[in-house]
Amino acid sequence: MSLALAEPAALQRGADKPRPMQDGVSMFPIQRPRRLRATSMIRDIVRETQLSVDDLILPLFVQETSDTPEPIPSMPGQFRHTQTSLLAEAQKARELGVKAILLFGIPSSKDENGSQAWAEDGVVQRAVRALKTRDLPLLVITDLCLCEYTSHGHCGQIRNGRVDNDATLQILSRTAVSQARAGADIIAPSDMMDGRIGAVREALDHAGFPHTPILSYAAKYASAFYGPFRDAAGSTPRFGDRRGYQMDPPNLREALKEARADIAEGADIVMVKPALAYLDVIRALREITYLPVAAYAVSGEYSMIELAAKAGVLDRKKIIMETLISIKRAGADLIITYHALDVARWLRR
Ligand code: PBG
Repeated sequence: MSLALAEPAALQRGADKPRPMQDGVSMFPIQRPRRLRATSMIRDIVRETQLSVDDLILPLFVQETSDTPEPIPSMPGQFRHTQTSLLAEAQKARELGVKAILLFGIPSSKDENGSQAWAEDGVVQRAVRALKTRDLPLLVITDLCLCEYTSHGHCGQIRNGRVDNDATLQILSRTAVSQARAGADIIAPSDMMDGRIGAVREALDHAGFPHTPILSYAAKYASAFYGPFRDAAGSTPRFGDRRGYQMDPPNLREALKEARADIAEGADIVMVKPALAYLDVIRALREITYLPVAAYAVSGEYSMIELAAKAGVLDRKKIIMETLISIKRAGADLIITYHALDVARWLRR
């Protein structure tokens, strides 16, 4: 950066007194960055990034395996909700100003094809209907994946020992339509099959839902940060792992390739997941698209903070706010976070 561009003319004068320079920029004592940090008011007016309740999406689990809400041991403070407790939680979210929830279902029975995923009376379909009947002013986003519904725990149909991409697209499309029929406001495919956004878009359009947006898990990495979620959803693969379809963590260009493909196929919002270990991916995606970019602060990110706070090692509130602002600063417009309710509370003045 040149001094002439960066600094007003007054600072360039003073040829009588040579000033220390670094990278072409005049430094101390002319520049005293602490001037803008002296009081909370001055910090407020120069702050570059803001977190708003409008940015937050709360993920919620709904199950049909028990008639009481079950605490999730690996995610202290989170529950597998019953239909009733889900409604109460959604109501609470709405009262705190949160505008969107992301729903995951835990069915009472699983099979090879994950058929409960598209069942008319499936756990998510019933939940969406109940939420929509209440007429809560709340966006209901449905996660679209099969791993919670398949007996083997993979995100698609298995043929010859591997996840069959193209056969899975048909099941996903069917599931997306059933979610939209139940009243889902946004569909969020998280399976990482090739061509899924195009397939789901076409199926939705065909079934009379051309206006239902798709939030694509565009850059979803094969991450160890999903560990607690898999406990919560009982979706750990029975054999192998997800590296055959989720992305390899060292890759950045591949994330851009995935996102571009999803955008070309009709995605309305693109997501990066996990968030904190992938801030560079969020930034890179922000720079190649005009679409809103979402980031998912996943279960492992949540549990690390909760357990460290419980152990008295970290200040819970400060860490939550700092990590979320870092995700925004990286370029995310929307943040999916299990901390959404607390944050909504803290953002209220
Ligand atoms: C389903 C899905 C997963 C998550 C969101 N959707 C699990 C996975 O891919 O194994 C993880 C969310 C979290 O960890 O909070 N495919």
